[in-house]
Amino acid sequence: MIGIFDSGIGGLTTVKAIMEKLPGYDIVYFGDTARTPYGTKSCGTVINYSLENSKLLMEKGAKLIIMACNTASSVATEKVKENFDTPVFEVISPAVKRALKESRKKQIGIIGTRGTIKSNVYEKMIKGFDKSASVFSEPCPLLVPLVEEGWTERPETAMIVKKYIQPLKVRQIDTLVLGCTHYPVLKDVIQRKAGKRVKLIDSAEAVTDEVVNFLQENPDFDKSLSKNGKTDFFVSDVTEQFKITARSIIKKRIELKHIEI
Ligand code: DGL
Repeated sequence: MIGIFDSGIGGLTTVKAIMEKLPGYDIVYFGDTARTPYGTKSCGTVINYSLENSKLLMEKGAKLIIMACNTASSVATEKVKENFDTPVFEVISPAVKRALKESRKKQIGIIGTRGTIKSNVYEKMIKGFDKSASVFSEPCPLLVPLVEEGWTERPETAMIVKKYIQPLKVRQIDTLVLGCTHYPVLKDVIQRKAGKRVKLIDSAEAVTDEVVNFLQENPDFDKSLSKNGKTDFFVSDVTEQFKITARSIIKKRIELKHIEI
């Protein structure tokens, strides 16, 4: 079973990508909706939550963990890898590799939560691969609540996206990393505001390709994963709005089961 967690329901963008690229693989998802957002919390708290979420997924039968949250990936990857003897995937490095591959001018913009942007993880990693690259980052703290509320088509959301993207446009970025797994839900409006020449990098898609490659390279491990087309969605708080938003991301009726963490 593939275990996937996020601070809320944004990580469902990764579930959707996994369902498309690895159809039939059993998936267990945990969205920590009771404690979302993570982007405004301290590193220590996000590390503790990430360890608890991984433990829960393992207890539900996960054999591989995807930290489908940039905020958790940016501060808690090492600790989760240390504590669980199972393949652990984070969303930062796949997005970085893809951005460097796609960017011609190496003028790369990053948008993410305050926590992710403050950690500077994207900039450090990009520069580690290519010193000549220029990286421009913008925290976008209002976007996660707008996605969780389902405000994807509202004019207010478009205005806020425009405000966040403007400083990056001024820097003439040619590539923009959606450094939060909630943001693919706003891909259309982000693309419109960034301009069609800017290549968007979706961290949910990038990590999915990394998992697919890993399974191809490790056929024995791949065989050990169950493939009965079973998907379980657990959340630490269920509200009507979470249900509506979750269905609009996955594009089908899903049941969100409440679980205490
Ligand atoms: N989807 C999470 C991320 O990728 C959102 C973080 C939050 O809860 O603030 O960063």
